[in-house]
Amino acid sequence: MFDVQKVRAQFPILSQTVNGKPLVYFDNGATAQKPQVVIDAISKYYSEINANIHRGVHTLSQLATDAYEVSRNTIQTHLNAKYPHEIIFTSGTTQGINLVANGFAAIVKSGDEVMVSALEHHSNIVPWQFLCEKTGAKLVVIPMNDKGELILSEYERLLSDKTKIVAVNHISNALGTVNPVKYIIAKAHKVGAAVLIDGAQATPHLRPDVQDLDCDFYVFSGHKVCGPTGVGILYGKESWLNQLPPYMGGGEMIKEVTFEKTTYADLPHKFEAGTPNIAGGIVLGTAIDYLNEIGFDNIAKYEQELLDYGTKRLLEIEGITIYGTGENKASVISFNIEGIHPYDIGTIIDKLGVAVRTGHHCAQPIMNYFNIPGTIRASFAFYNTKEEIDIFVEAVKKAQLMLS
Ligand code: ALA
Repeated sequence: MFDVQKVRAQFPILSQTVNGKPLVYFDNGATAQKPQVVIDAISKYYSEINANIHRGVHTLSQLATDAYEVSRNTIQTHLNAKYPHEIIFTSGTTQGINLVANGFAAIVKSGDEVMVSALEHHSNIVPWQFLCEKTGAKLVVIPMNDKGELILSEYERLLSDKTKIVAVNHISNALGTVNPVKYIIAKAHKVGAAVLIDGAQATPHLRPDVQDLDCDFYVFSGHKVCGPTGVGILYGKESWLNQLPPYMGGGEMIKEVTFEKTTYADLPHKFEAGTPNIAGGIVLGTAIDYLNEIGFDNIAKYEQELLDYGTKRLLEIEGITIYGTGENKASVISFNIEGIHPYDIGTIIDKLGVAVRTGHHCAQPIMNYFNIPGTIRASFAFYNTKEEIDIFVEAVKKAQLMLS
């Protein structure tokens, strides 16, 4: 049985007050809070086994290496990847996308096409623009409709044998739209294009099965799944990871170095140059275990209740517009109130203890589509409650009164 009060008790930060009010944390899309088990695992790593990995024969180095590789296996199982070496530790989603986009410079030629969607975060746009600038390839954009859903008929029309890679998010950070990625992947494969899925906003809410999706790459960040910042995962199919060149050169990613020629290490080490975020990598496994104990079915069901309740309560507010009204949505509500700048609402409700994100959410093309400077975004996690939604809605109403 999912008991939200029991869950909340595992997150020390949630019992804090902010500006003299109980914290209502609705900025989970930016970063999730950490349960005690994650905080303890960080402390345990530094207190008991801190050492560099894959390098020393000494006991601590072995312990740290084992813990790091156990975490890799945990993530392999979680994503249902075929092999552990298909799991690459990165510094986060952004680095994962840059790694793949950089590698595709060896594959994409002038006249080829690289496809992203109108719903992307800047981190799934800019690295592909770099790729296009480097190679002379063209960036093609899958358009969206007024509900914030991708127009699939347009997607299919735009696909051709020129399309070399399609990079789309699983869930939009700005609007919460859940994209039909399995369908998108199947269509791309029909024309021979690879597909990268940006799972940064999806992995807190669902458990992706990379073999079932048949994606070529799947990326996400530790900090959004109750894990540490500065760590993330790139899943890649073995054949693709073998084909792509290394992203960074350095220690641990080589087989042999001479001044004439260097040969590269096997997967996954080819993509893991330098000393990584060892504690982060290990504790990401702890966070994933924690979420699986809560259960993604429980998370999805409960968050849907929060989304429905939050949407219903916010619609009581006169002059509100909710952006992102698609059929299939995660627990994210982006909105504006007529005549008021989102930043002003965010600032006032912060004084009332409520944390939301305001602005363009690193998705300026979406804001341009709606012709707005930004939105107020409330993003709920499984540890939030309907009572917190009530506090939030009252805070927004109060801010509206003060500002109009
Ligand atoms: N990409 C994160 C967000 O949507 C930071 O807030």
